[in-house]
Amino acid sequence: MLKLPELKFSTQKFKGLSQKAFQVHHEGHHATYVNKGNELLEKLNIKTDNELEIIKLAYGNLTPDYINLFNNVAQHWNHSFFWESISDEKKDIDPKLAKMIESQFGSSENFFKEFEQKGASLFGSGWVWLVLDKKENKLKILQTQNAINPFVVSPDFEPLLVVDVWEHAYYLDHMNKRVDYLKVIINALNWENATKILISL
Ligand SMILES: [Fe+2]
Repeated sequence: MLKLPELKFSTQKFKGLSQKAFQVHHEGHHATYVNKGNELLEKLNIKTDNELEIIKLAYGNLTPDYINLFNNVAQHWNHSFFWESISDEKKDIDPKLAKMIESQFGSSENFFKEFEQKGASLFGSGWVWLVLDKKENKLKILQTQNAINPFVVSPDFEPLLVVDVWEHAYYLDHMNKRVDYLKVIINALNWENATKILISL
């Protein structure tokens, strides 16, 4: 059974997005992916609840139920990771990660500029990720469309952070101004969580 995770930050304290927007996003959009995913797992008689296993199993299977299964379970995973990627408290970048960012992007300012630009320029709905390419030991900014996530792009990619750039993520508070929303989210990125993943690899 897929489960909707609790949010670990205060939506009341979060600056730049309303509690209503979080409620609709979490209990509306995200919960729908969870419910539809569970319906499909039952229909297809899939017993595992290992989300990454389901995502990899369903990806590339072009029968309609499996396409839906991939979309709903990947969207569930992506949203769960998005909630871990943001915080109501400003988190500093850990020195080790800051050093990697500076050596690869020139400066943290350059990194933020590029991350925002990648979020703004993604056509349609999708996600912008900071991933570690484990093979090259390099950080990369990755754009994915719809429900696609780094696990199906490359087995070498480990996601450290993600930002939801589906219109449903920003429309209530920021209307069509995706860049305004991106500035809010980039300022609220949970670097502590990114560091925790990086040191666990
Ligand atoms: Fe979303």
